[in-house]
Amino acid sequence: MAADPHWLADVRRYAMSRPFLKEQSIWAVWLYRLGRRIDTRRDGVIKKICTAFYWLLFRFFETPVGISLPKSATIGPGLRIWHFGGIFIHPAVVIGTNCTLRQGVTIGNRYVDGPAPVIGSNVEFGAYAQVLGGVRIGDNCRIGAMSVVLSDMPDGATAVGAPARIILKSHTDGLSA
Ligand SMILES: CC(C)(COP(=O)(O)OP(=O)(O)OC[C@H]1O[C@@H](n2cnc3c(N)ncnc32)[C@H](O)[C@@H]1OP(=O)(O)O)[C@@H](O)C(=O)NCCC(=O)NCCS
Repeated sequence: MAADPHWLADVRRYAMSRPFLKEQSIWAVWLYRLGRRIDTRRDGVIKKICTAFYWLLFRFFETPVGISLPKSATIGPGLRIWHFGGIFIHPAVVIGTNCTLRQGVTIGNRYVDGPAPVIGSNVEFGAYAQVLGGVRIGDNCRIGAMSVVLSDMPDGATAVGAPARIILKSHTDGLSA
């Protein structure tokens, strides 16, 4: 089977030798990509067995690592997660390419069965940032640590605070690890 280009892009963003031994978050990213690949298989017994195996691994990793990245979420290539713990991504979330999450990030709905966020590309999430509801976050946005984003963000914006306010229209730098 050919290597998954999304996964190869994820690994590139870890930019270190043997990231599996150094960063727990890459285990969750790997499992997410595996789940997506299983979903593309033809229906049949093998797919059922693989899916059961996926869910077993999902539960096994989710609790100790504290990262919930369900395979029904749509996440572009180049996902980077700094650190681990308390990271929850709603199953209906859409995330673009080269996004960066950190510990404590939640991307989910505001109410049970409510809509989930759609995130652009190159978006940086500070530690414990929360993005809730059917909001759209543009490309190249930054969300400050501990911020709670409840409304749309235009491309290139930075949001801080709870509820978040936009402090800059554009920027060139990323966040620290
Ligand atoms: C959002 C962030 C990128 C803003 O950086 P910046 O563009 O350099 O902005 P500044 O530091 O100049 O701050 C601008 C304003 O936003 C406020 N602000 C910055 N970050 C904030 C945050 N996370 N929550 C609330 N307010 C914040 C500042 O107090 C300042 O307010 P003021 O204008 O009223 O004085 C940065 O503060 C941040 O939160 N980075 C996250 C880093 C992180 O998660 N580290 C964890 C590593 S494990």
